Amino acid sequence: MSPLLQIKPEDLFVDYSLDSAALGARPMVKRHLADLRGSFSDGSAYEAALAQGNPLIYEVTAVEPANGDGQLHYGLGIIQPGRIGDEYHLTKGHYHSHRAAAEIYIGLRGEGAMVLEDETTGETRLVPLVANSVVYVPGHTAHRTVNTGAEPLVYLGVYPSNAGHDYGAIAEKNFRNVVIATASGPALVERSAHLAGRPTR
Ligand code: F6R
Ligand code: MN
Repeated sequence: MSPLLQIKPEDLFVDYSLDSAALGARPMVKRHLADLRGSFSDGSAYEAALAQGNPLIYEVTAVEPANGDGQLHYGLGIIQPGRIGDEYHLTKGHYHSHRAAAEIYIGLRGEGAMVLEDETTGETRLVPLVANSVVYVPGHTAHRTVNTGAEPLVYLGVYPSNAGHDYGAIAEKNFRNVVIATASGPALVERSAHLAGRPTR
């Protein structure tokens, strides 16, 4: 069968919603606050927020039309606005299991940013992710998305089909920097500096 006919018709054309971030009728993976234990820097702010409830923080849906050399997968994400302490709502963040795999993120709605951290050196960039913009995520780079705005942040990520997700390294030592709200707007600060003087978990 030709490569074209191997793709299911429902994977050749997919509509999406900027309101719900649904991709067709596909199920959305939901990440609630309780799923993000260890992701936020301020442990007491996290526990206080969780005591109030377990809100939905973000959802993501992936479309995986085909696997193999040269094939692409993509995912639509939506992050609800809000903060835990002064740290903006965020995704878990990951490396790709296939470290060389790059990704592009296309901002569709809202205002946010991506934290990009080089695996070898820890060097970090904070890159805006807003509607009408594209962010390039190189291989070997941990990436996390944060919503710094007042409305949902919606974005599309496109990546090689063999990229995979590696959450282990982030679960173990998290990102080196955090994105927090300051009087002059969102700022990237070192996690160790952000935690200084605060009670830890
Ligand atoms: C795929 C990708 C995105 C994320 C999504 C959720 O490689 O980067 O589709 O999967 O933004 O973030 P995580 O996977 O870190 O929970
Ligand atoms: Mn990725």
